[in-house]
Amino acid sequence: MDDRARETLAKLTTAEKASLTSGADFWTTTAIAHAGIPSVMLTDGPHGLRKQTGSADHLGLGSSVPATCFPPAVALACAFDPELAERVGIALGVESAIENVAVILGPGVNIKRSPLCGRNFEYLSEDPLVSGVLGAGLVRGIQSRGVGASLKHFAANNQETDRMRVSADIDERPLHEIYLRAFQRVVTDAQPWTVMCSYSRINGVYASEDHRLLTKLLRDDWGFNGLVVSDWGAVDDRVAALTAGLDLEMPGGSGHSAERIVAAVADGRLPESVLDSAAARVIALARKAEARIHPSHKLDVDAHHALAREAAARSIVLLKNDGGLLPLDPGRRIAVIGEFARTPRFQGGGSSHINPTRVDSALDALAAVAGDHLRFAPGFGFAAADDAASLRDEAVALAAASDVAAVFLGLTEAEESEGFDRTHINLPAAQLELLDAVLVANPNVVVVLSNGSVVALPFADRVPAIVEAWLLGQAGGSATADVLLGEANPSGKLAETIPVRLEDTPAFGNFPGSFGHVRYGEGVFVGYRWYDLRETAVAFPFGHGLSYAVFDYGVAQVHLADDGDLLVTVPVTNTSDRPGREVVQVYLGLDDSAVERPPRELKGFRSVEIPAGETVEVTVTVRSADLAYWDTRVGRFVVEPGTYRVDVGASSRDIRSTSVVDIAGDDVRVALTEHSSLAEAAAHPVVGPAVRASLPKGIFGASDGGASDGEGFADDMVLQMIGSIPLGRLPGFPSAGVTADDIRKLIAAANSAEPPD
Ligand code: BGC
Repeated sequence: MDDRARETLAKLTTAEKASLTSGADFWTTTAIAHAGIPSVMLTDGPHGLRKQTGSADHLGLGSSVPATCFPPAVALACAFDPELAERVGIALGVESAIENVAVILGPGVNIKRSPLCGRNFEYLSEDPLVSGVLGAGLVRGIQSRGVGASLKHFAANNQETDRMRVSADIDERPLHEIYLRAFQRVVTDAQPWTVMCSYSRINGVYASEDHRLLTKLLRDDWGFNGLVVSDWGAVDDRVAALTAGLDLEMPGGSGHSAERIVAAVADGRLPESVLDSAAARVIALARKAEARIHPSHKLDVDAHHALAREAAARSIVLLKNDGGLLPLDPGRRIAVIGEFARTPRFQGGGSSHINPTRVDSALDALAAVAGDHLRFAPGFGFAAADDAASLRDEAVALAAASDVAAVFLGLTEAEESEGFDRTHINLPAAQLELLDAVLVANPNVVVVLSNGSVVALPFADRVPAIVEAWLLGQAGGSATADVLLGEANPSGKLAETIPVRLEDTPAFGNFPGSFGHVRYGEGVFVGYRWYDLRETAVAFPFGHGLSYAVFDYGVAQVHLADDGDLLVTVPVTNTSDRPGREVVQVYLGLDDSAVERPPRELKGFRSVEIPAGETVEVTVTVRSADLAYWDTRVGRFVVEPGTYRVDVGASSRDIRSTSVVDIAGDDVRVALTEHSSLAEAAAHPVVGPAVRASLPKGIFGASDGGASDGEGFADDMVLQMIGSIPLGRLPGFPSAGVTADDIRKLIAAANSAEPPD
């Protein structure tokens, strides 16, 4: 706390300080005029500004000022480009500043644990590195304009079902390696002004009351120096939350929490210093925001719409393009089928719902280029009363009379939204039936998908071209036309696996839990980590995405830098005659590991523009810290020594070059105890050699006349058989020839050699 904050606090009563730690109303903080503390606004987020003008709500129901709706996270992530994310962040910061908004509530970096999560459209990826790197890009952009970001939802908000109470029961390794890692990355790389705690509980403790999360990890270990705000209505016990490190409760206005805080300070349950710290952070946020926001300029609607279009085109993933059906030739007869082409679904439902400055439809954008060659049939309607049969027949007749049919399929807002989870991953049956009928009439079909989270693609083998167009924001329609017509060369890659069946997905059977608990039974094996471990067939793998260009990879070189980072360099050649962009992905694996691991994990990536016919040497940096796993013995991240496989590829299942690198790793010393196993003692760096050399004769070795053939510990097979015996139990075996005193001395020798962790 700085001197200015101390001076300000000295002027405030306990009640005034308490009032600062809750909002003044739905969206603003409390002002205290006599102490010069301004009120500032925090509002949604994340892919556009939702500043409400009338009645306030956190469900996206009330109206809000017009703002640019950029591609939601589900789409933007597929660009795999932190610089693009940063540019979108800058635009978000500009729009927030114009509206005098101090903090925009995003980005959301929760992991897509199941495709069923109703809010997956607002989250970036199933992979923590992608989520962290892109989240940091967005935060950097937003904050470069004097506006704060709010990194949310910290943490483990991976479902909507029972979201305000459910306990996410997660083991330590997945918690740190998968669910917290993206937050850590964003905090350490981009220092968001605020972090928003999630609604849910983690292993039984509300995130809003989790001291380990909000203080130990966030502040002490990661160095966060901003403010922790609650999700809207996430505080269960205000005093417990304050003690845990939750500075600002939102929304506010009732005075209820302040009364409780004052009472807790009065009766000694809450040290006033804790209240002071929280109040000081609210004051610091308000002053910082007020000093930096420059709301004078006007919104350049056209420029931001153009950026939304560029970002949307970069987000589209070309899943399949057999026979080069795409790009479409505007001179041929094109049938555009599907209501989504005319009435785009471009954003998700709930608190992120933006009132767009304008909306482009793919139909208009395609027609503007193709003119009379293009005809449209809705194919299906969104209303139950629509006559499905006649809409289908009309579309089939159109397909039959055309050279190619672009069929727009997808999910409506009623099928996926904040607030609830899906129960299946299917497209509506009427749309699938329409597609089947169109395919009979004309096999030259391009399917264009509009969806906030993955859908099953039972037609994937029967359709020559598939474009995953997600929810692309307000310029998604024109961006889709850009890609379909080849004005933009697709370069998006899947930031989440498209499974064949819901039953194949990692959380299946463990989602959404019951009676207030959801068990993360798949552990660290989330997303592609799961499918690759089990060698499960997927519809389209993580990292997959085609281009109209063709890229050849050369042999990758791995250089271990002095600071422990890996520099992976690979030549990539664009062998086509059009410029394109490739996302080079670097995966690492350690086959012979002390812990369970997936075959490969993404550890670095880079999006690069490659001119036609040229070769670019692409260098991807893999941070040493990203090699670490969470070691439950010592409660921290540890890099395991070993020979790592470095897979460089165009997707998680399209590896183009493999090499190896030896990593010295971290020296982890775990104290030996009487509960340590014989095998652990034999592997101990200090006493191990002596154990192996001196114990064998006595322990079931020469004397048992059996498996060891007198070789004792020299024989790995024997060690395998008896290695699990705890040291303290050895004296109980008469044939071991070891006394309790021997064991005590052994343990003392091991632990005194060097202080263990
Ligand atoms: C959501 C947050 C959002 C807040 C304010 C909550 O229901 O979980 O993401 O920022 O409402 O609208």
